[in-house]
Parts: sequence; structure tokens; C-alpha cells
Amino acid sequence: MAELVIDTGHKKSRINRELYGHFSEHLGRCIYEGIYVGEDSAIPNTNGMRNDVVKALKNIRIPVLRWPGGCFADEYHWKDGIGPKEKRKKMINTHWGGVIEDNSFGTHEYMELCRQLGCKTYINGNLGSGTVQEMSEWVEYMTFEGMSPMSELRKTNGHKEAWRVDYFGVGNENWGCGGNMRPQYYADEYRRYQTYVRNYDRDRRIRKIACGAPGDDYQWTREVLKACGGQNAYRFMDGLSLHYYTSLEPGRGSATEFDEATYYTTLQNAYYMKELIERHGAIMDVYDPEKKIGMVIDEWGTWFDVEPGTVPGFLYQQNTMRDAMVAAINLNLFNKHSDRVKMANIAQTVNVLQAVILTEGERMILTPTYHTFWLFREHQGNWLLDSVLEGETIQTEKGMIPKISESVSEEEGGRIHITLANLSAAEGEAVRITLYGRKPGRVSGEMLTNEMHAHNTFEQPNQVQVQDCADIRVLNEQIEVVMPPCCVMHLAVEP
Ligand code: AHR
Repeated sequence: MAELVIDTGHKKSRINRELYGHFSEHLGRCIYEGIYVGEDSAIPNTNGMRNDVVKALKNIRIPVLRWPGGCFADEYHWKDGIGPKEKRKKMINTHWGGVIEDNSFGTHEYMELCRQLGCKTYINGNLGSGTVQEMSEWVEYMTFEGMSPMSELRKTNGHKEAWRVDYFGVGNENWGCGGNMRPQYYADEYRRYQTYVRNYDRDRRIRKIACGAPGDDYQWTREVLKACGGQNAYRFMDGLSLHYYTSLEPGRGSATEFDEATYYTTLQNAYYMKELIERHGAIMDVYDPEKKIGMVIDEWGTWFDVEPGTVPGFLYQQNTMRDAMVAAINLNLFNKHSDRVKMANIAQTVNVLQAVILTEGERMILTPTYHTFWLFREHQGNWLLDSVLEGETIQTEKGMIPKISESVSEEEGGRIHITLANLSAAEGEAVRITLYGRKPGRVSGEMLTNEMHAHNTFEQPNQVQVQDCADIRVLNEQIEVVMPPCCVMHLAVEP
């Protein structure tokens, strides 16, 4: 039996809603087909956005959406994506399949999508191949309320009011696809570009995000912070990003066909996120001891081989219970490190990498990862509670991982939310939960459980779905639940 102890008197940090964010790029069928089908499509839509997808994303309370890339961001010229659609310039999407991008989804469409979703906006600007002037004019176009060349252009294009830009990324992966820069060079460029990301409205300050490290490149984090003023770096940036994908070596491996050892290696690789957060976090602590700069994990998720027969550059992969486990591990880690991690964006929303939604024509399915986001939805905006779990570990090819992953939060009004994942593919686990400082009220639970390869298809869309937990017992100050193998669970404890 695993023992989970929760100290209800110790609220640690706020779980920013943005930890449950998403990322969507002009890549494969994410934006086009997956989200945007155009006003004239036979697929039910509102101003071109698929109604089914918007509704599904609202149901998991999508808090923020990052756009337009990714590698695409540093090749994107925003002026190509405004004005009458038939006149918009076409471009080659060199990174992703070499397809023609017709720019029919641009700034106005993105803002309309976020309006429909009711989520915050996170625009990633082009530092790699764009100019300072271009970036500065984009910000003016979007956010300047008064009379100026760019705000007049926006009005001519049909939008009178300024929009709100909540977050602005100054370049993406500038150590790689965004210009192959060295950290000192990027830092100097960052300092210059971000200067012109103006705050025209002081009450709607744009939070600026600098490009952070790939995986374990700790030198990048150190050098960028140092070159951005060391302990004064917070004056230049509100966030520093981190990208890490869960994958397999050599080759990325099939998304649906894997043995048990590979299943555990994948989960071990997902757990590596903990080390990355803690080690990058330790460097950030040196330059930013007051934690004014958020760690922004704006690309995370699984990256497997594309589905057989699909375009390699489109990164379309299936999504199994293994992906649900990876999502649960990451989301629990983000909650537990919410003193430093202020945003995270899973890659990439629809039809690309670890998507929460897959579409085929007018059909849509929700993946096991979607259901995991559903089970975690109540944590958004809550206080993280101190919790410790004692239990078994699982031996993987690369080391040990805990059998049970967990995090706990308390919402305003005192309801406690516990999310657990039993990572074992074969063995169930009983978990005894002790709430220090409180007698539990009514407890309800819901869970996702299935065999590790299980996934939803267009033919069988409900193979994997959330069900109620029957096996919950409350005994004085303790709660006992029995988790089946390969299971993600959410418990709500009334005050
Ligand atoms: O998400 C796919 C790609 O992964 C992004 O475009 C890039 O930023 C990263 O390398």
C-alpha cells in the first residue's frame, strides 16, 4: 500500500492556470483542418473555427494558446497574414513538409480563436529572420488603441479595438531553427528586440518571454541570464522558456507499438523533466532569487514516429494510455514546481505530436491525453499543498521511477484536489491518504484506466474514457482508494 500524506496547513505556491496551456503551430494539420477550416467549410464552424474543437478545448478550460510557432515563428512575417484573404502572400513552410502556406489564418484569426476559447494570448515573434521594426510594428498593430500607422491599418482590416497580448515570445529555439545563435549573441539580440515590444497600455502589460534552453543545455540558461543583466535580468524578461520532448532513442519509436520495457523507458524519460526543472531552476535562483522570472515550458510532450502512411513533416501521431501517463507525470511535476514554473504548453493541441484532439474530415476524437487534462482541470489557479508519497518504485532500463505520481491542491472554499497516476502497466495499487489538519468530508473520484496501448480511433472513439471511481473508502482522517494498473485518477475532497 502507498501512503500519501497531505499537510493541509501548508500552502506552498499558486498553480498558475497557464501551467495547463497549449501550443499550436502552422505545422501539418494543427491549425489548418484541425482548428481552422474557413468560413465556407461544410464542417460546422464559427468564423472559420471548428465548433467541436473549440467546445472540447473550452471543456478542459484551456487557459492560454501559444502561436504561430515553433520553428515557424522565426520565418513568419505577420504582415503576410492580414488584409483580404485572396490578396495574402503565400509562402513555403520550409520546416514542415514544404507545403504552401496561404496565410489565411493570421493575426485576426488567432485573436478570434482566443476570443472564442476565452483564453489568454501568447504570440511568438520572429527574431531569427525578422527585423526589430517588424516585431515592434506587430505589437503596435495588435495593442495600440490610439491613432498610429499600425492601429489605423488594423482598423482598415476590420478591427477597431486593440487586442490584449498577454505574453510575447522574443524568438523561438534561437539556438537551433531560430538562427543557430550562441547564448551571448542571442541575449544581445533579445535585449534589443524586447526594447521595442512596447507596453502601450500600462494596465495590460505584455509579459516578455526569452528563448530558453533545449533540454539540459544549462550553459544556455546561465549565459542568457548573465548577459541580460544577471540579477537585473528580470527587468528585461518575465519568463525564460524551456523545451523538452519525451522521446526514445535511437529513433523515436512507434506511438502505438511498444513493449513493456519501452513503456517504462518512456515514463523514465518523461520523469527527466523533474531534473531539468530543478537544475535550470537552481541556475535561475542564482540570478533571480525572488523568482520574478517564470520558467515557461512552452513545448513539452511525446514525440514518436509519425503514423505509417502520413506525411513525415506533419508529425501526426496516435496517442495511447502511455501518453496519458506522460501527461500525468508532467502535470504533477509542474504543479509541484509551481513556485518557479509559471506556464507550460503541450505540443501541439490538434493533430500534431502529443495532441489532445485528432480530426479526420468532420470527425473528431479526444485522446487519452485530453482526458488527463480533464482530470487535472480543477488544479488551475489553486494553492499547491505540501504532500509526500511513500511507496514502491519501478525499475526501468535507465533507473528507478516512483510507481505513483501525485500532486495536491486546494481551491478557494477549501475543496482539495488530488491527482494520482499509477504508472505500473500490470499491477494495481492501494493508496492510503492522510490529511493532516483536517477531517475529510465527502470524497468523489473519476479516473482513466486501460491497457497501456489502448487508444481512441475514429472507428472506436470511446475505447478510452473517464469513468467514476467506485473504490473509495473514508475512515476517520484517512481515505483509501484502489487504483487499477495504468491509471490516472482525480479525487475531490469536500471540506
Ligand atoms: O513542436 C515541433 C517543433 O519542435 C517546434 O516547431 C520547435 O520549436 C521544436 O523543435
